[in-house]
Amino acid sequence: MASYRIRQYREQDYDAVRTLFARGILEHASAGYRHVLRSARAQLGLLVLFAAVRTVVGYWVLGLGAVALALVAIWLLVRSFSTSYVRQALSTDLCDIPTSYLRAPDSCFWVAEAGGAVVGMVAVAPPQDPAERGAALELKRMSVSRDYRGRGISKALCGEVLRFARARGYGAVVLSTSMVQVAAQRLYEGQGFRKVGAFSPSLLGTLLCFQIFQYRCDLPGRAAASPH
Ligand SMILES: CC(C)(COP(=O)(O)OP(=O)(O)OC[C@H]1O[C@@H](n2cnc3c(N)ncnc32)[C@H](O)[C@@H]1OP(=O)(O)O)[C@@H](O)C(=O)NCCC(=O)NCCS
Repeated sequence: MASYRIRQYREQDYDAVRTLFARGILEHASAGYRHVLRSARAQLGLLVLFAAVRTVVGYWVLGLGAVALALVAIWLLVRSFSTSYVRQALSTDLCDIPTSYLRAPDSCFWVAEAGGAVVGMVAVAPPQDPAERGAALELKRMSVSRDYRGRGISKALCGEVLRFARARGYGAVVLSTSMVQVAAQRLYEGQGFRKVGAFSPSLLGTLLCFQIFQYRCDLPGRAAASPH
């Protein structure tokens, strides 16, 4: 098994990091699709659509055609969630990583390197949520290349973030992940994070029963709510 090392991001990692991030997000689109189709709301909607077209047009085969079209539309919708999230990240913080994470206060960006290639990444920064600012840091952009999974790389990357936050006197590390990112949920729970909230990112997310989970890891020996 090839060994790896964790180091700070360098300019030459730019393309590898952006590709790794995009792949890590887009691979969850199919799980998101399955999740939506398993929901009672989606199944009822498809049944109603079939019955309505069958009744109005009079041919059950057209009812099936309408259901097939709806399935394609749902897939495109779910996939557009992932692609727009990736596009947004690549055009904001992951567009200029040194400015976003290396020169910004209380921020950092690490990669895991193996055989001269970038195989893992993670970032830390002050949280978006103003209520958490000063008291916690946010873990972001965790991803490990498929060929290097199951070797403890994400645990090591998570450890860097927790040590970084502790060294700067923060009381907690927070993060968000989606309900279909099951490996990530197990990873964070194993590293001391607990689920503290869940929300739908949009009205469409609510309709599709899609939620974002919020996690928090309180750092021992620190006053979690004290301002930094
Ligand atoms: C989640 C992810 C980062 C895990 O990376 P990894 O290097 O394979 O994880 P590790 O080998 O360090 O394993 C850490 C823990 O994660 C959990 N885990 C990892 N893969 C898992 C899987 N397929 N199923 C369930 N749990 C899993 C386990 O709890 C594991 O601990 P254990 O080995 O003691 O059981 C990786 O699967 C990934 O990049 N996924 C796509 C991007 C993503 O979802 N990122 C998270 C953004 S919030």
